[in-house]
Amino acid sequence: MQLKEEILQILEENKGSYVSGEQIAEKLYVSRNAVWKTVDSLKKSGYQIDAVRKRGYCLSEDSNIFSAQAILAALPSSLRKFINIEIKPITGSTNTDLKKSAENGAPEGTVLIALEQTGGKGRLGRSFYSPKKTGLYMSILLRPVFPAEKSLYITTCAATAVSEAVDCTADVNSSIKWVNDVYLDGKKVSGILTEASLDFESGGLHYAVCGIGVNISTEIFPDKLGNIAGSISDGKKDLRAKLAAEIITRFFGYYSTLEQLEFLPEYRRRSFLIGKRIDFIMNNKDLSGIAEDIDEKARLVVRLDDGECIALSSGEVQLKKGDIIR
Ligand code: BTN
Repeated sequence: MQLKEEILQILEENKGSYVSGEQIAEKLYVSRNAVWKTVDSLKKSGYQIDAVRKRGYCLSEDSNIFSAQAILAALPSSLRKFINIEIKPITGSTNTDLKKSAENGAPEGTVLIALEQTGGKGRLGRSFYSPKKTGLYMSILLRPVFPAEKSLYITTCAATAVSEAVDCTADVNSSIKWVNDVYLDGKKVSGILTEASLDFESGGLHYAVCGIGVNISTEIFPDKLGNIAGSISDGKKDLRAKLAAEIITRFFGYYSTLEQLEFLPEYRRRSFLIGKRIDFIMNNKDLSGIAEDIDEKARLVVRLDDGECIALSSGEVQLKKGDIIR
């Protein structure tokens, strides 16, 4: 980390209170003059920092500039040591970039965020619309130690974390459409794409990249998404840092005990498909039935029209036309 980033991190962690130049200088092994100069350059980049003689420096409570330091400062200290965040102004896809870093040995807990994606990827070969600064486009690198067949839980655990984080950041009530979409007021506001590299010898994963896209304040969507996609806020306040920190905190809270499925009761509670009539395709056949439950493996249990009960572990289902998404 550069001095500017280190000082910003200290100020973000103490947002709203004063930290003396001496304390900062001692902590970072630099001179007070170096601290003063760096704070001055932070102010020039737009940070609202008060400098008061004998008290020190204080980053305004209202300061809301999106930065890795703002996100880190909002994480619990136990996570701060382990999470490493990079923010890129623009890229094709954060998932693609992070997979490359994973191949080059990046550790679990590496988080890549882009302000804009030109080739945002969605599930089933679709794209994810990722316009500049109105969404959160974030990928998290994991190096799971559990067997590959449990990797579905990464996505379901992430969906639970995202839905909870959206609710507490934007003060809304979102819900989950099995398996990995978050909905608000009948519109999709977030999608998750988990990509993994299999280790055939061990039956485990070399790594998994969990990519999360949230429409925060996107107003205009491409025509084909117009009726489907929505946003979580009006964009008056920049929610990105808070939302990212909430997602990371909640995600790793569940991920640390993933095999115990602590997220599952909340995932079920938030799943709006249960009790609804749905259509889906399985083995090239069009099927329909009633979604009855999410089972103990996070599969969607469907009672088909002929009475047979099946459990879906992947794919996508559609609500029957006319059914209401809460
Ligand atoms: C979907 O809705 O089908 C999944 C969308 C996942 C989008 C996110 S944005 C960050 C990460 N990078 C990508 O290219 N995709 C994921």
